[in-house]
Amino acid sequence: MRVFVAGGTGVIGQRLVPQLVARGHQVTATTTSAAKLGLLEQLGAEAVVMDGLDAASVGEAVAEARPDTIVNQMTGLSHAHAGKPNLRRSDRFFATTNRLRSEGIDHLLAAAEATGVDHVVTQSHASMNGRRQGGWVKTEEDPLEVIEGTKAINHLEDVVVSAGGAVLRYGGFYGAGAWDDQLELVRKRLLPLVGGGTGHVSWVHVDDAASATVLAVEQMARGVFNIVDDDPAPSSEWLPYLAQCVGAKPPRRVPAWLVRLLAGEMTVGMLTEGRGFSNAKAKRELGWELRHPSWRQGFKAELSGPVFA
Ligand SMILES: NC(=O)c1ccc[n+]([C@@H]2O[C@H](COP(=O)([O-])OP(=O)(O)OC[C@H]3O[C@@H](n4cnc5c(N)ncnc54)[C@H](OP(=O)(O)O)[C@@H]3O)[C@@H](O)[C@H]2O)c1
Repeated sequence: MRVFVAGGTGVIGQRLVPQLVARGHQVTATTTSAAKLGLLEQLGAEAVVMDGLDAASVGEAVAEARPDTIVNQMTGLSHAHAGKPNLRRSDRFFATTNRLRSEGIDHLLAAAEATGVDHVVTQSHASMNGRRQGGWVKTEEDPLEVIEGTKAINHLEDVVVSAGGAVLRYGGFYGAGAWDDQLELVRKRLLPLVGGGTGHVSWVHVDDAASATVLAVEQMARGVFNIVDDDPAPSSEWLPYLAQCVGAKPPRRVPAWLVRLLAGEMTVGMLTEGRGFSNAKAKRELGWELRHPSWRQGFKAELSGPVFA
């Protein structure tokens, strides 16, 4: 297939492009920076500069590539695009990402229509943002509880589902290049357990997230899929374990009221009441098999390399 990856240089894009190429697909991948064209070529893609916020740029790139499927992996979450994370000013931190999830996806869908591309796959997010009522593990039937300042994710999901495409709600990424900042915080004991650490996280190894995406492309999947591992877990389980894996002291415990004061209600809500997600649908319908079914084995495998020995 001819596959167009919008945002090929990000954490997921860099894992996805080589997997698509290895499966025999012809890949065109984009970056906003001419300096990164070489990186995309090394990954095996035809590389193009495209600004996802510029309709003409998107229209031209898609028309030139004439793909069968478009995969949207554009976010502005990296330091280069968003600066340092600041949950108190989430509107500012998520500003570019919100635009990519509204204007950006609209430009891609318009370009798809103009070029006769009838299938689109998009990145979405599933970890700690499940509806905070009922059980701790949510399915695709449950709406997201979208955190303040990131409402554009609803638009992104709605327009792609309406266009007959697939929405992949990825769990929290881990793997080289995906979680370096988090590991640093764990080493420095700056990632605490808040109010008992009851909030759940759904993790997914970036290679597994990429392999699920390949399946969604090849099967021209439609609808919403949670792309998470088998093992949603509260912070009180995974955080001390991660600290152990990186050789750090156990995480500090901080009362919820203090975090509310320092980082706001939204952060406390995620860390104490956030929900995890089920991957049953993706396994059943896409035939997805995970290399790392649980973070318990995945963290260890990821951190046992020479860098961490
Ligand atoms: N599920 C999750 O847990 C999840 C999901 C996403 C990200 N993250 C985390 O967020 C951090 C950053 O991730 P990342 O590196 O993938 O994000 P990123 O650098 O923002 O990458 C996303 C992609 O979007 C592209 N992009 C940015 N602005 C664009 C625009 N205006 N038009 C078109 N393309 C644009 C980037 O291209 P260029 O920079 O090459 O221009 C890049 O290819 C990582 O720590 C990652 O783990 C986590």
